[in-house]
Amino acid sequence: MFTAPVEDSIRRETDTPADRPQPWWRDAVVYQVYVRSFLDSTGDGVGDLAGVRVGLPYVRRLGVDGIWLSPFYPSPQHDHGYDVADYCAVDPLYGDLHEFDRLVADAHRLGLKVVIDIVPNHCSSAHPWFQEALAGGPADPARSLFHFADGRGEDGELPPNNWRAMFGGPAWSRVRETDGRPGQWYLHLFTPEQPDLNWRDHRVGRHFEHVLRFWLDRGVDGFRIDVAAGLFRHPELPDSPDPAADERTRDSVNPLAWNQPEVHDVWRRWRAVCEEYTARDGLDRLLVGEVSVPTAADQAAYVRPDELHQAFFFHLLSAPWSAGEFRKVIDDALRDIAGTGSTVTWVLNNHDQVRTVTRYDGDTGGFGATRARAAALLMLALPGAAYVYQGEELGLPEVLDLPDDALTDPIFHRTGSRRYVRDGCRVPLPWSGHASPFGFTAPGSTVQPWLPQPAWFAEHTTDRALSDTGSFWHLYREGLNLRRQLPQLGEGSLRWLESPPQVLTFVRGDGMVCAVNFGDDPVPAPVPGIPLLASAGCPPGTLPANTAAWWVGGLPTS
Ligand code: NOJ
Repeated sequence: MFTAPVEDSIRRETDTPADRPQPWWRDAVVYQVYVRSFLDSTGDGVGDLAGVRVGLPYVRRLGVDGIWLSPFYPSPQHDHGYDVADYCAVDPLYGDLHEFDRLVADAHRLGLKVVIDIVPNHCSSAHPWFQEALAGGPADPARSLFHFADGRGEDGELPPNNWRAMFGGPAWSRVRETDGRPGQWYLHLFTPEQPDLNWRDHRVGRHFEHVLRFWLDRGVDGFRIDVAAGLFRHPELPDSPDPAADERTRDSVNPLAWNQPEVHDVWRRWRAVCEEYTARDGLDRLLVGEVSVPTAADQAAYVRPDELHQAFFFHLLSAPWSAGEFRKVIDDALRDIAGTGSTVTWVLNNHDQVRTVTRYDGDTGGFGATRARAAALLMLALPGAAYVYQGEELGLPEVLDLPDDALTDPIFHRTGSRRYVRDGCRVPLPWSGHASPFGFTAPGSTVQPWLPQPAWFAEHTTDRALSDTGSFWHLYREGLNLRRQLPQLGEGSLRWLESPPQVLTFVRGDGMVCAVNFGDDPVPAPVPGIPLLASAGCPPGTLPANTAAWWVGGLPTS
């Protein structure tokens, strides 16, 4: 029955010599640590690197291959560290370089890779380069490290073009020159505190290669690249054809501001830096990009063999709960990413998105947690790599009722709307106990966590999850455990089996079956016998509604 797959299969295509194992990242599962919300060791209400060190055994126990750390660099924190004032240091809020070194050493001792965030599209307005550009005036060479331009209108009172910022408002802000008069404008596709760097100035590229080496020398295993389809703008900075569309969505849709061809040269240079290190010590490094482009085919261009190793495949995350939609997304990814030298990098949650438990609840209500569990098993059964965002393994729902005055997301402050607000998925993790701070802050501290934790977080503490074998945590752990044990999982082929329209069934390798019932009614299971792992109780021969299950060694009944 399980013949060798011909179509819908992933080709393994790397230039790894036969005597070297496949690079670790190809089918790795990486746990995203949002540092300020993970664990606070100092009692100031904000998570820190020492807290991450304390939590490493917990992460290891879950069974992932590595961690990705959100930005911990010196920063005024206008966008929680995605506004970097110094790329080669640690913000005292999070620790220092010694603490970072200890964290890397501990992680490596536990067999965990360490991937750090790097933010090359923009820096902080507090960065010395920007301060120099402001102080030096229009003729200062530091201005060309950014996009400074004269305004339009009689007195330059209008922005140089009509671009809108992703986080609301115009993409340009006007500076006051040193004589006190309104002067030039500068571009920022996010907030005014995040001026865009001008990558056409070679000093920018040179600086970032130095930054890569700085952290590689400290032992990091890779970089998660923020806004990796950014960096370059159309050289003439012309008006956007549809500024209203740019405003309507949080996606990068302005074709003049994103996805410019020149960006690929940067990834080639960065890849060469990584390979230089690998040639030296045989250890594979990873560049994983946040590449927000319209289609899987567009994304494929970023993961060609000499560019990024991987790019997050966000289409899975944005697919509505429907067998047809998920099938399309998976097919597109497998078709377009196969043959690039990369593997698909699946993701269901991150620090910018409404958590799956809430997202899948939709209008019907009540099925969010069940569906989130099923989606997790589906993701872990797909070929390629996967990312798990902290708290996902606890089945944390989004916190939707944070009061306005607690919200810190610049999107809220710049748009006045709660529509895309991201604080709700960033509330500090609950570890233990029955009341806030749920073990998040150091014992004895009276400081509140930086975002308020709701009372119902008590149901989701890590302590509770570990002691309840029916918890999300145990489902993730079991799934990750099986990924390590079963050669069919991870990289390799995927073949679809015929199933009812509301069900997806596929075979991995030579006989592992995964089925997901997206419908509201039970269906006959595709394989007789008890599943190896299921996201909910499966009576023999049945796949309940909103449930995923894995079987090994059985034969499909149809
Ligand atoms: C993407 C990051 O994930 C997000 O948190 C950040 O606000 C923007 N890039 C800007 O750096």
